[in-house]
Order: sequence, then C-alpha cells, then structure tokens
Amino acid sequence: MTKKPYYITTPIYYPSANLHIGNTYTTVAADALARFKRLTGYEVFFLTGTDEHGEKIQRIAEGKGVTPKEYVDEIVAGIKDLWKLMNISYDKFIRTTDSYHEKAVQKIVTQLYEQGDIYKSSYEGHYCIPCESFWTETQLVNGNCPDCGRPVEKRTEEAYFFKMSKYADRLIEYIETHPEFIQPESRKNEMLNNFLRPGLQDLCISRNSFNWGVPLEFDPGHVVYVWIDALSNYITALGYNNDVDTELYGKFWPADVHLIGKDILRFHTIYWPIMLMALNIPLPKQVFGHGWLLVDGGKMSKSKGNVVDPVVLAQHFGVDAIRYYLLREIPFGSDGLFNNEIFIKKINSDLANDLGNLLSRTVAMIEKYFEGAIPAPTAREAIDNELIGLALETPKKVEAHIDNLRIPEALAEIWTLIRRANKYIDETTPWILAKEESKKERLGTVLYNLAETLRFASVLISSFLPYTSEKINEQLNVNLTAWDSLSAFDGTESSTKVKKGEAIFPRIDVEAKLKELEALKEVKEEPKQTMQPLKEEITIDDFEKIDLRVVKVLACEPVKGAKKLLKLKVDLAGEERQVVSGIAQWYKGEDLVGKYVVLVANLKPVTLRGELSQGMILAASTDDDSKLFTVSIPGELPTGSQVR
Ligand code: ME8
Ligand code: MG
Repeated sequence: MTKKPYYITTPIYYPSANLHIGNTYTTVAADALARFKRLTGYEVFFLTGTDEHGEKIQRIAEGKGVTPKEYVDEIVAGIKDLWKLMNISYDKFIRTTDSYHEKAVQKIVTQLYEQGDIYKSSYEGHYCIPCESFWTETQLVNGNCPDCGRPVEKRTEEAYFFKMSKYADRLIEYIETHPEFIQPESRKNEMLNNFLRPGLQDLCISRNSFNWGVPLEFDPGHVVYVWIDALSNYITALGYNNDVDTELYGKFWPADVHLIGKDILRFHTIYWPIMLMALNIPLPKQVFGHGWLLVDGGKMSKSKGNVVDPVVLAQHFGVDAIRYYLLREIPFGSDGLFNNEIFIKKINSDLANDLGNLLSRTVAMIEKYFEGAIPAPTAREAIDNELIGLALETPKKVEAHIDNLRIPEALAEIWTLIRRANKYIDETTPWILAKEESKKERLGTVLYNLAETLRFASVLISSFLPYTSEKINEQLNVNLTAWDSLSAFDGTESSTKVKKGEAIFPRIDVEAKLKELEALKEVKEEPKQTMQPLKEEITIDDFEKIDLRVVKVLACEPVKGAKKLLKLKVDLAGEERQVVSGIAQWYKGEDLVGKYVVLVANLKPVTLRGELSQGMILAASTDDDSKLFTVSIPGELPTGSQVR
C-alpha cells in the first residue's frame, strides 16, 4: 500500500542573527506534527530553511566587514546545529542562496513578466541619500528619514509591480469557500477585512538600491523583492522549475500545511496564493498562523534584543523539557508566555513527578519484587479496566487532536493517562500486596499493567518528546513502538528484563535555578554598536538656526491607523502645540505626560497621517531602534526655556 503524502513547512528564517526560542517554537511544533504523521503511517516531507537575501542582511554583513554570503554561512551553520540540538527531523533544509532555488525564482518571475502579470512602473517615495533608502510617507518620522533623522527628498525609482489587484476577487472567493485554508478562523477574518476587502494594491516586487538578491533575468540591475524570493521556496524545494528532486513536486504539492507565526500571515495568505494563482498552481491546503511567545508581556524579537536563547535553556533543562513546555503550555494559535518560573514548575510537576515517578516507581518495584523481570498479567481485576480502557482510547483522542493541530490538547490527553496510572498505583497499593505471598499474582498483574501503560505513554509521546520516549523504552526494554501496537493492551512481553536508569527528569530546585539563570543574565554584555559616522562640520551659526525649547507634555495618544506614531500636546510658554512623533513603539501615552522634553520649535510644520505636527521631539536611539529614549529635562523649568 502506498502511503499518503504529508507536506509540512516552517517559515524559512532570516539568518540576521542566531535564532531564539520563538523561531524554535515554530520548528518544534512542525517537527512534532511531522513525526506524528510519520508514526501514523504517512509519507512525510518536512521542509525548513533560511531566507538569506535582502537589504538587511547586506547591511549587517557590510557592518561586519564580510560578504553577505560569508555572514549567512556562519549563521546558517549555527541554525543547523540548533535544529540538531532540538532533535528536528526535517527532510530538507533549503537556503535561498542555493543556486537551484535562485534559478527557479528567476524563471518564476520571468514567466509572470512574460504573461503580463508583472509590469514596469515607477515607485514614488522619499529617498534618504546617506542611507540610500526609500521610505513611504508613513514611514518618515517628522518628515525625516526614520533611520538617521536627516531630511529626505522626493524621488521616483523604476521598479516592477505585480498585478495583485487582478487576482483579488478570485482570492476572496477562494478564502470564503475554503474555510480550512486560513487557520485559526479568527485570522481569516482579519485578512479579509483588513487587507483584501478594502482593496489590494499592486505589489512592488523589485529593488535596485542594493544587490544582495536574485537578479531579474529581464533587467539584471534589479533584484527580486525578498518575499517573492522567499515564498517560492515552498515549491522550488520540491523541484519546481529546477531539476533537483523533481519527483517530489508531483508527490507533495499542494502542501498540507504551512506553519507560520501570525506576523507573516499576510504574506502567506495574500501574496503567496496570488503568486500561485498566477502560475496556475494549486494553493496549499492550509496556512496556520500560530501566536507569539511573549516574554514579560512583550514580543520577543531578534531586533529588540530581548530573546531567550534555546541553547542556554537546553543546557539547563534538556531538549525535551523545552519541547514539552512549548508544545503543552502555549495555546496553539494564540499568544503564550515564556517564563522561567512557570517552565521549571511545569518540569517538576508534569515531567519529574507525573511521568518520571511513574517510570521510576514501576521499574523499581519490578526489580524489587520480581528480580527485574516483567511479570505476566494473570490476575486481572475489575479495577484494571478503567486504566486499560483509558489507555486504549487515548491514541484515537490524540490523533483527532493532532489532525486539527490541537497540540496542547493532544498532550493533555496523554497526561490524563499518565496521571491515571499514578492514581492506579495508589488504588492498588502494590507495597501492601507485596507483603502477602498469596497476592503475588495480583501484584504481578498490577506491575504488568503499569509497564504496559508506560509503553503506551512512550509511543504516544514519541513525536513530542522523542528522547524521553527512547529513555523509557530503554528502561522497560521494550521494542514494540509502532502506533498500531496501541490497538491492544498486551504489547509488553512478560519476563522481559527491565533496566533501572537515571531519573528521566530530575526535580529542580526552583529558587536556586532561578537565581542561577538570573546571574547568567547579568554577565551578558550589551550588544555593541559601531558608531554612525559623524556628519560634516558646521559652524555655531549653523547650529544657532535650530531653536530648541523646553516643553511640557500635556497629553499623548496614538494616531489612528499608524502603529508607529504618537500625537503629543505640549505646552510652550502657554502656547499649545501638537507634535506627531514616531515613538509609539517605545512609549505609551501615560509614560510621557508631565515630562519636560526638548522640542525643535522652529521646524516647518508638516502633516503626517492627516495630523498637524508643529515641531519635533528629540530622542536618542540605537541604530537598530531596539532602544529609544526621549531627551528630557531632569527637573522643572519654565516651558519655552532655551536649550543651548
Ligand atoms: O519572517 N513567538 O523570518 P523570521 C513565536 N524570513 N514565533 C516566533 C516569534 C515569537 N516571539 N518570533 C519569531 C521571516 N517567530 C521570513 C519568513 S517564509 C517564506 C519567510 C517565528 O526569521 C514565527 O513563526 O523573522 C515567525 O513567523 C517566524 O519565526 C519569523 O522568522
Ligand atoms: Mg521577523
């Protein structure tokens, strides 16, 4: 019988820095699903990789004085090591710098161009010459370059556009008639209401301000926009438009699921399906956008520098503890918290207590009462039926949850069985049975049932906690690990010799461990920043042209429809002014009210997102904007006081 194919993908990650626990989350979840499908009889193709082109990578590499390829090679090696550490069973790792991928992307874009879906036009924007970057009106901060704060000029640049608008209605209809396509359900409405129904703009798909990318065949001065390049990976990896593994495409496309974070849902449920429609290729069956892992209430990201390093966690807790926490504790589809204390407590309760103790008690009793040989179940009693019945039902329940990508719920079912087995020990009290020779057969039956339940647990957890499953099998000395072996409660062979091993999850001292982790944080050095080159020399007269004044912030609120902008009301010697400032990422309204800050008071007023901005608030920030502080006066001064 030929197996049913199952194709699952992760996003291809930016090798702009080492990956963190957030990226690890997606990959571990995909791994668990891939392993589960293999276990339950599918032929699985599990793809992951790296998204290596683009201006950001080029700039980082330049900053380090290496070529972009040299830079990404090193990061990618680290990513592959991380996946090895996390026990990720991917079938293929694609790099967008692989030449078969680059050539296939060129062909894709050329085809779209030749069939008229891509056209040349011009891109209007604001250009910052020193930074060589284009910005849209809304990206500017107080009318200036958001990167360096210098003035920008209006420019038009030639670029190629994809006729997204042509396919919008077809996509809306597709989404409406395929409710399973975008999951979870709530994300579907977000895509329809926020992006598709208001009208889709054509997408600029080329860049010519940098060259780290795939050149257009028909205009090599331009490189392909990094998202067009990246999304294509899901088919080029299968051999589409190239001759690597050509039989894969026919077998595995369309993908069963693209697993991604909700941050990139728009690219996967709008741009990608439209590309595929234009290429006349079937759409993936499902795009699942999971939630974010938050740390202390905020999103973790490479550019914010608040990341949790999975390598450090693995050193302290082991890989399966991390996998367990991610898969069990984060509701799949919504945001969840990553917190060391909750993590350690979960290890102690679920892994050390529930599972670890069940194994160590069972093996210890088989050693103590039966010289290590698993006894035969010759004296069953009614009380056994509940445990056995639950064991036999659990695989079906787990499978149903996984089919609906309910990973935490699947694990919860398995733990219900594990806890039931612990309760069974309390109910049957083997240590009392052991006191009477006449109860020997009953004792043997109880221990057999426990060993067999552990075998069930081991097979059930094998996709989620593969190392732990192996350790249990070693101690129980079982080799019957197939999914089908869970259809009957008799897979453990009596007289098999068990081998007591180390505790699979030693209990952790919560307080001590938290202190240890805290100490690690303190020695971590601040990320270094190379200083931006100084601007050209000016005279005191140049400086005097700028009128800096102390103002007091009276009120502060977000600007509707502009995530980055805050609208401030400030007092300037009795005059009330409104200033729009691109600092919403760092400040909430209340943070600033009552503060004395510095205003560029003679800056020509501009309108930003329909709001008048009369001046600019001074702020200092790191180059990557991971930190920003407004310049404030550390005491009270009459507003209007000069800053000189
Ligand atoms: O977006 N919580 O790559 P990327 C949960 N190259 N998941 C998180 C997370 C967090 N805090 N932070 C990141 C890109 N992720 C593109 C993708 S695909 C054709 C191109 C996960 O390195 C989540 O899955 O920024 C998110 O979608 C992905 O990492 C983004 O990784
Ligand atoms: Mg990102």
